[in-house]
Amino acid sequence: MKIPLLATLLHVLSLVQAAPARSNSDSNPGLRGSESLVGYSPSEPSASKSAPDIKYTLLPGQKEDPNIGSYLDFEKADNPQPIRGSSGGDDPGPRNYNYDRINSDKLAPPGTDHGQTINAQWPMGLSHNRLGIEGAGWARQENTVVMPDAKMMAGVDMRLEPAAYRELHWHVASEWSLVLNGSCRIQAINENGETFIDDLNAGDVWFFPPGIPHSIQALDDGVEFLLVFDDGDFSEDNTFLATEVFLHTPKEVLAKNLGLTTSAFDNIPGDELYIFKGTPAPADIEEQNVTTSAGLVPRTQSYSYHFSEQEAHNVAGGSVKIVDPINFPIASNFSAAIVTVHPGGMREIHWHPTSDEWTFFISGQGRATLFTAPNAATTFDYRAGDVGYFPKSNSHYIENTGDEDLVFVEVLQAPQFTDMALGQWIASTPKQIISDTLNLSNDTLSKLKKEKQYVVAGNTTS
Ligand SMILES: *[C@@H]1O[C@H](CO)[C@@H](O)[C@H](O)[C@H]1NC(C)=O
Ligand SMILES: *[C@@H]1O[C@H](CO)[C@@H](O)[C@H](O)[C@H]1NC(C)=O
Ligand SMILES: *[C@@H]1O[C@H](CO)[C@@H](O)[C@H](O)[C@H]1NC(C)=O
Ligand SMILES: *[C@@H]1O[C@H](CO)[C@@H](O)[C@H](O)[C@H]1NC(C)=O
Ligand SMILES: *[C@@H]1O[C@H](CO)[C@@H](O)[C@H](O)[C@H]1NC(C)=O
Repeated sequence: MKIPLLATLLHVLSLVQAAPARSNSDSNPGLRGSESLVGYSPSEPSASKSAPDIKYTLLPGQKEDPNIGSYLDFEKADNPQPIRGSSGGDDPGPRNYNYDRINSDKLAPPGTDHGQTINAQWPMGLSHNRLGIEGAGWARQENTVVMPDAKMMAGVDMRLEPAAYRELHWHVASEWSLVLNGSCRIQAINENGETFIDDLNAGDVWFFPPGIPHSIQALDDGVEFLLVFDDGDFSEDNTFLATEVFLHTPKEVLAKNLGLTTSAFDNIPGDELYIFKGTPAPADIEEQNVTTSAGLVPRTQSYSYHFSEQEAHNVAGGSVKIVDPINFPIASNFSAAIVTVHPGGMREIHWHPTSDEWTFFISGQGRATLFTAPNAATTFDYRAGDVGYFPKSNSHYIENTGDEDLVFVEVLQAPQFTDMALGQWIASTPKQIISDTLNLSNDTLSKLKKEKQYVVAGNTTS
């Protein structure tokens, strides 16, 4: 079977190569049409044609001035159409309704969108998932392979089933993590020989500097966590694993180094483990508290921060809490805020003067417009599990477009979490300057708030 098939394939290939020189009829009957199809033909049927009858009902916000740009909930539309006010037109297909329904700001962008920004969105649901062995978990990542302009940070979403490990390893980048679900035990040793071990719950944060070897083991309830690295090119597949360093060092050298015989390594794994099931960690952490003459990693340099126990700061439309090197010193350059936006509310228009922002959507849904100088703007719709990316000083907001709380984490590469708020800026600039520039009425100017709002309240858009 195989040889005739191959021979046929080679024959077809040779015909394809030779095609321009041959007439269709004698080479491949059925695959191509006749030469008479090229160009105008007086014999073409001239049946009367009419536009397809596409049935749809526009959503209320779809009829207004496109510059108002209300959120269009296409999940509630029978047959969503790329129409805003008098712009756009209907869509006979081909199309994928699944994408159109959840990306209404792509299908029917607000009239204020313009030009081309970077792509500021990657759904982890479109990432290849790397499955751990024997049902131990999985990991999927976002990096410059899928978001070429997200150069400063990359991220990984990882799951470990109860007692499963992320294998002992280290890497060149710095690793900042937020526990999303469940709990885990993390441990490490630093360059001074000082040791560290801690248990973390959902909402807690850890940080491992470059080169610090560490492990992560899920406790009884399993764990899911987010990892953020200070390098957009980072790949989770390129870390330094304990198994690999043993596999790729001569046994004679390992034996000499550790004061053992080569036979000590007869049973080491023949391949990397990466994500694998282990022996459940003892409930009492003290059983795994290895101390050396160097002592413990000092508390001020601790690799964990119990962020879940920090109260959120309530504001009109939701709440905010910040963790940055001011309260978590080891995580130099990792500044983050967890923002909760109630339905109808919005993370106010802002930008980060010192860093790009890497965002992960934890729950709910929202949209953001990325504004890039001089006049480019793109609106993106996000769901839980999506990554967002807003370059340094590029303004953006995040509006809750659903009917449950929207929760996300903003991560910066900065020694302190800072932002500039458009509202505070406008309100705190001499009125005459604003009035001369934007022609806002005195009444409007008198209503502006000089305080940073973080999250404003509002009516639900749907
Ligand atoms: C963890 O996930 C489970 C299943 O989705 C959910 O019931 C639970 O509330 C989650 N826990 C946290 C802390 O989010
Ligand atoms: C580990 O042992 C040290 C020294 O006895 C102690 O200070 C520390 O609290 C113990 N526990 C952990 C989790 O580090
Ligand atoms: C911190 O991040 C900024 C980018 O925002 C970078 O320019 C700087 O080199 C980083 N500093 C350290 C100490 O890594
Ligand atoms: C400012 O707005 C007023 C209406 O309030 C309008 O009459 C006027 O032409 C505007 N000025 C400029 C410079 O656009
Ligand atoms: C707005 O207020 C300024 C001074 O506060 C005043 O000079 C100006 O006439 C006012 N403009 C209007 C349209 O009332």
